[in-house]
Amino acid sequence: MFPQSTDRGTGKDSTDMTLHSPELAALDRLTSGRSTCRAYQHKALDIKLIRSIIGMAGRSASWCNVQPWQLVITETLESTERFREALMQRIKVHPENESDLPFPPSYDGIYGERRRGAGIALYSSLGIGPKDTERSAQQAFRNFRMFDAPHVAIVTVPVELGPYALVDAGGFISSFLLAAYAHGVATTPQGALARHAHFVREYFDIPDTQHMICAISFGYAENEHPVNRFRTTRAGVDDLTRFA
Ligand SMILES: Cc1cc2nc3c(=O)[nH]c(=O)nc-3n(C[C@H](O)[C@H](O)[C@H](O)COP(=O)(O)O)c2cc1C
Repeated sequence: MFPQSTDRGTGKDSTDMTLHSPELAALDRLTSGRSTCRAYQHKALDIKLIRSIIGMAGRSASWCNVQPWQLVITETLESTERFREALMQRIKVHPENESDLPFPPSYDGIYGERRRGAGIALYSSLGIGPKDTERSAQQAFRNFRMFDAPHVAIVTVPVELGPYALVDAGGFISSFLLAAYAHGVATTPQGALARHAHFVREYFDIPDTQHMICAISFGYAENEHPVNRFRTTRAGVDDLTRFA
């Protein structure tokens, strides 16, 4: 089920170690094998499988163990489709950003470079060149169709807990992605849906005492689809660490 460990920057340092313990080898396979999925099979997951992923992700650490993360998940193909359609309709009449949390105004310097690198890898996998603005826009718009995933999870935290709840939720999201991958389930963390947070919260009856952070679309991947076959790179240990 899992591809071989690939060199994804920091991954190289971990594979320099002898992966003699089963835990180390398993974690190496999970962290190097997971990637963001952008094409799904039209097939619902068993609710027991979904519950098992959530149970594992819920073991994440959090400040004072407050576990601020909350999920709303579309359980069936029909409920996901209803939401997808409603979102499409909403975007037509209200395309503006209505996120709960401010989006970065720009990505400059190294952050801009990394963002561009990931974008070029994604669009070239589909044969979309940098000047092909029409096809780029069509592909970007697929975000709002949730790449036709069979399920979507909406991730929120209580507003009252402030920025550290966002830190905790980030850890939870990361665990969710890895737990899903360990279950053979592909995922797409989706900040794009947070652009329409007000609508999403209203649709799912989530009170405004919660902040929507992002969505996570998930299901079985179309493994052979070219958009699922490219991999992003990572900075090396020395690029992100200063040993003092
Ligand atoms: C919080 C968060 C939000 C993201 N939002 C989107 C999104 O809206 N659309 C998308 O296609 N990918 C999104 N991604 C996926 C990132 O582009 C992806 O994680 C990054 O390029 C690294 O690639 P990888 O996940 O394949 O390793 C998001 C990731 C995170 C963690």
